[in-house]
Amino acid sequence: MSQNDLFKRLVAHCKEYGYIFQSSEIYDGLSAVYDYGQYGVELKNNIRKYWWDSMVLFHENIVGLDSAIFMHPSVWKASGHVDAFNDPLIDNKDSKKRYRADVLIEDHITKLEDKIEKEVSKAAKRFGESFDREMFCKTNKRVLDNQAKIDDVSGRFAEAMNSSDLPALKRLIEDCGVVCPISGSRNWTDVRQFNLMFSTDMGSTAEGATKIYLRPETAQGIFVNFLNVQKSGRMKLPFGIAQVGKAFRNEIVARQFIFRMREFEQMEMQFFVKPGTEMEWFSYWKEIRIKWHKSLGFNVDDYRFHDHDKLAHYANAATDIEFRFPFGFKEVEGIHSRTDFDLKQHQQLSGKKMQYYDNETSESYIPYVVETSIGLDRMFLQVISAALQDEIIEKEDGSTDSRVVMRLPAILAPIKLAVMPLVKKDGLAEIAGKIVDNLRFSFNCQYDDKDSIGRRYRRQDAIGTPFCITIDHQTKEDNSVTIRYRDTMLQERVNISELPAIIGEKVSIAALLRDQA
Ligand code: GAP
Repeated sequence: MSQNDLFKRLVAHCKEYGYIFQSSEIYDGLSAVYDYGQYGVELKNNIRKYWWDSMVLFHENIVGLDSAIFMHPSVWKASGHVDAFNDPLIDNKDSKKRYRADVLIEDHITKLEDKIEKEVSKAAKRFGESFDREMFCKTNKRVLDNQAKIDDVSGRFAEAMNSSDLPALKRLIEDCGVVCPISGSRNWTDVRQFNLMFSTDMGSTAEGATKIYLRPETAQGIFVNFLNVQKSGRMKLPFGIAQVGKAFRNEIVARQFIFRMREFEQMEMQFFVKPGTEMEWFSYWKEIRIKWHKSLGFNVDDYRFHDHDKLAHYANAATDIEFRFPFGFKEVEGIHSRTDFDLKQHQQLSGKKMQYYDNETSESYIPYVVETSIGLDRMFLQVISAALQDEIIEKEDGSTDSRVVMRLPAILAPIKLAVMPLVKKDGLAEIAGKIVDNLRFSFNCQYDDKDSIGRRYRRQDAIGTPFCITIDHQTKEDNSVTIRYRDTMLQERVNISELPAIIGEKVSIAALLRDQA
């Protein structure tokens, strides 16, 4: 299956199994806005909790916050979003389609990288065990040519973006021969800047109304509350404030399902540090965050760091944690050293001091900030794209079968166990009901008695349920049930009384975090 088909399949699966629906679908949907269904909301809650617990519970010096979405308009003037939160857009005159100029160039670079990867994997197959990737990349002409192109385009791209040189961006698009995927033409307009913030009016009369913005990041709610939290919590530097909440961006090109949405959720943590120590903390948080991602048990080769060439207006260092999605390596989380930019700006515009008094040195200063910022929806997409698999099963008699399975980490799975009576009669359904009643407040359980047991297993595999418990006639005699493990499909008989311990250990966020300590 091509990567594109794989992705379409993922979108269809999410709809079929109640994970994600297009917003306002009966009215043909609202572009780049999505609703989470009965399983989606559980998975999303579990990802949020894993992040929250690993930040706020795990770190003594991090506390939480829940600030309002609406904020004083001056916040966005101070933060630079009114003047600089822009994306460069370009239109194709023939198809009338609008694109982000920077994304067109990034996609072009990705295509060149893919060409290199193809050469490398062809050669790896040809040479087998003796293949030396580094040597091959240093000597193969086609690889060297493509690498030279990448270096040239990346250099010009970084320069144009850093100096906001829009004509240079257009020239680069033309020189790379980028064509519109719809019309196939190179008939481009000039590149223009487009502000991504949504605005609305607050106030009851037209004359008295104030233009306010829907926050494009949750971080500013943390910055403006920095002193409130520091003083009321008697926090000492270094310390962090974490927040999860909605953010809104009027994205020019909203593509790739929930990867780029207009309404989405962010999980952000601002870590306030003494000036001059920010690079140490930047490295510290890079390590902690990549460890968090890898702890979920997906392929570790599918993660990488990508350091920014173009730094945002507030940063002196920045990196992305990227994941290999079906459409290539893309950003899931950003780690930014934001200097004292935000607090300084708020101090200037509000006239209120944003300084910290350091008891140890008896001096006051504006702290520096290292932030970790991850999109909850994007993390959701990362998890499901890594988890969804089509599997061929070799049976004992030599024949094959297939199944669709969501190999979700047990701590994140929406339903932890499905409880199934083999048949509805003979009192088996009642025993199953009792097990669900006993466990429902410890684990998210589902009672399932429809269809054959094989079909029920397949349905739970497709939802991602890690454990299926089957009640049969033997249960009536010795209180034992079959527990079937989603990933291995192995089954074993255990006593009903053992279920809380067996399942509890596997689905415990606390246990996973303790392992990371
Ligand atoms: N406070 C810093 C900040 O907002 P960002 O790189 O613009 O930085 C952080 O966004 C994260 O938010 C991204 O890594 C991504 O996971 C998520 N994100 C950003 N825009 C998004 C969008 N339109 N849809 C979904 N997630 C988005």
